[in-house]
Amino acid sequence: MDRAQGVFENIKTRRSVRKYSDKAISDTDLDLIVEAGRWAPSGANAQPWRFVILRDRALIEAVGEVCYYALFRSRHVAEANVVIVILGDPSAGSATYIQDCTIAGTNMTLMAHALGIGSCWIGAFEDDTVRKILSIPDRMKITALISFGYAAREPRVTPRLGYKDIVHLDGYATSKKSGSIKASMERAGKSGPLSVVRQILGVLLNRRG
Ligand SMILES: Cc1cc2nc3c(=O)[nH]c(=O)nc-3n(C[C@H](O)[C@H](O)[C@H](O)COP(=O)(O)O)c2cc1C
Repeated sequence: MDRAQGVFENIKTRRSVRKYSDKAISDTDLDLIVEAGRWAPSGANAQPWRFVILRDRALIEAVGEVCYYALFRSRHVAEANVVIVILGDPSAGSATYIQDCTIAGTNMTLMAHALGIGSCWIGAFEDDTVRKILSIPDRMKITALISFGYAAREPRVTPRLGYKDIVHLDGYATSKKSGSIKASMERAGKSGPLSVVRQILGVLLNRRG
């Protein structure tokens, strides 16, 4: 497989993992994951990220108590082997510090996947509580938490919008569209009233995903 194919395959097959086994992530693999974040690009190369790495079970469980998936508490965070909290420093010299941190986190999830390690991005968490548990100063923004661990089951494949639904050639209004994004997502079963019911049932039944 050539390099481009390998990169694309890694991007395409990464999934959010929400059920972890108790197999531990090695220090070597964790170092590689963090290195992938460290080498992310950033506005003005300001590198405004700081990574709080949680390996302590009690801390992971405490933080997991205040992470969510849809309307429910995310049980998988408390079961994760490692959680990385990505902090952004607004005074580091990059107006795009949140984007910078997001790219660093993305690099980490992709490196984890390449190592056979699952991850899940957590954007829904109680900021105040996480801040308190981890003694994070007010001047730092918590941009995201990412849980890491070995998947205990095959994650559900999630659909994507089609190329024509998202790409506009040479300007937004000029290109022909194949239909609305909403209609496309409904065709893929990802949005619409039924999908909300499906998502809630999935969480209640602890379905794959
Ligand atoms: C910015 C962002 C925030 C997210 N927040 C959460 C979250 O709070 N809880 C959760 O369980 N998953 C969260 N996810 C994971 C998404 O639900 C998941 O990426 C999406 O459904 C696509 O599935 P996939 O990652 O398996 O391809 C988040 C993803 C992103 C990129």
